[in-house]
Amino acid sequence: MTPLITVKNLEVRAGRKSLLSIPHFDIQSGEVLGIMGPNGAGKSTFIKALSLLEKPTQGAIFFKGEDISNDLTLEMRRKFAVAMQQPLLLDTTVFQNVAIGLKLRNLPRTEVRQKVAYWLNKFQISHLAKKQAVHLSGGEAQRVNLARAMVLEPEVLFLDEPFSALDFPTKVQLLKDIKSIIEQTKTTTVFVSHDLMELKYLAGTLAILMDGELKQTGPTEEVLSSPNASASTFINDWKSLLN
Ligand SMILES: Nc1ncnc2c1ncn2[C@@H]1O[C@H](COP(=O)(O)OP(=O)(O)O)[C@@H](O)[C@H]1O
Ligand SMILES: [Mg+2]
Repeated sequence: MTPLITVKNLEVRAGRKSLLSIPHFDIQSGEVLGIMGPNGAGKSTFIKALSLLEKPTQGAIFFKGEDISNDLTLEMRRKFAVAMQQPLLLDTTVFQNVAIGLKLRNLPRTEVRQKVAYWLNKFQISHLAKKQAVHLSGGEAQRVNLARAMVLEPEVLFLDEPFSALDFPTKVQLLKDIKSIIEQTKTTTVFVSHDLMELKYLAGTLAILMDGELKQTGPTEEVLSSPNASASTFINDWKSLLN
């Protein structure tokens, strides 16, 4: 089967410094891929390149076998939704924040209302619909951010450390909800985190990124139980903490 996304000879450089170097990488349809690595490893750089937010220095990205590296059209970008650690919400109500993408797509008002109501309910924030975004707690704001991403029914959902700023109970509840939503919708998901607990819970496949290079990729359990020489320095630190 053709992978949903294929990356070939991807290079991101800042001046002469290589930030990311990925010779070949596939993401399968329906996969929940975790990307783990230390600070500064290039995780966000990878997400930005994959989601077409930033053009790589070199290399190609294929979507369903088609080279989309130079296709930075609205139509292509709309296949992807990105949620980051700090939700950048607009200074308006929760409803409007979730509705904005659909309004920009000129959907009829009744359809906008219906879809927004559906996703507010899914993320258990229906009661916040009329609340101003500035008054939300961190957990509520991240729920709005994720609802705003999912309402667009993306082909790929990119999550860049979306739970890192949340306190533990808030994080656990949101992890449970997002897991069930991803499973129900079968959304292909790329999930960046430096937290092994989050990754074990959510990601079926795990890629270890260090110094801009993918050191190991495979089923999450397998990578964690048998890290190779390159990945083990990082993974064993985590394991020693958890055991
Ligand atoms: N625009 C840039 N110019 C120069 N260096 C950058 C730029 N963006 C990121 N970097 C550097 O690239 C490396 C990877 O950054 P990033 O992808 O944000 O890492 P991560 O998300 O894994 O913490 C870091 O060393 C960072 O300082
Ligand atoms: Mg980052």
